[in-house]
Amino acid sequence: MAKEFLSHSADETRRFARQFAAGLHEGDIVALCGDLGAGKTEFMRGITEFFVCEEQLSSPTFPLFNIYEGTLRGEPVTLHHFDLYRIESQKELEAIGFDEYLSSAFVSVVEWADRFPEYARFYTATVRLERTGEESRRIFITHID
Ligand SMILES: Nc1ncnc2c1ncn2[C@@H]1O[C@H](COP(=O)(O)OP(=O)(O)OP(=O)(O)O)[C@@H](O)[C@H]1O
Ligand SMILES: [Mg+2]
Repeated sequence: MAKEFLSHSADETRRFARQFAAGLHEGDIVALCGDLGAGKTEFMRGITEFFVCEEQLSSPTFPLFNIYEGTLRGEPVTLHHFDLYRIESQKELEAIGFDEYLSSAFVSVVEWADRFPEYARFYTATVRLERTGEESRRIFITHID
């Protein structure tokens, strides 16, 4: 099923992301795609807001991998968040146990997932952001199941 939204601000993108997160299920693995500055991390921030995770996204040395502890209906949930932008090869991903991390969280989210199509079969949803103006973004959401 495919959906398309138009966002007019970073706030609105986070709001869409919170609604999207409300529809996620245990074991979902989300591919976040789009160019530099498209709003992938902003979208991820909305997901972490829905799960009431502690803020960790503002670090200037944003790492490859973050673990977020949040809650859903009073129960603790763990989110795994990857950013593959600086990863050079699939070997690097294998070395850190990427696929195991993907499947061991309540929900995993992967920025720049399309850099490694080898893992395409893992994803249960794809979110693609496109910059259409200074503050406007087109957001395409596809669920695979
Ligand atoms: N409608 C919008 N949706 C999302 N971000 C927006 C929007 N309008 C403006 N912005 C701004 O665009 C920037 C998006 O940055 P963000 O880090 O989320 O992009 P990214 O896709 O994660 O980039 P990177 O590939 O570098 O990680 C932020 O500064 C955000 O405030
Ligand atoms: Mg980012």
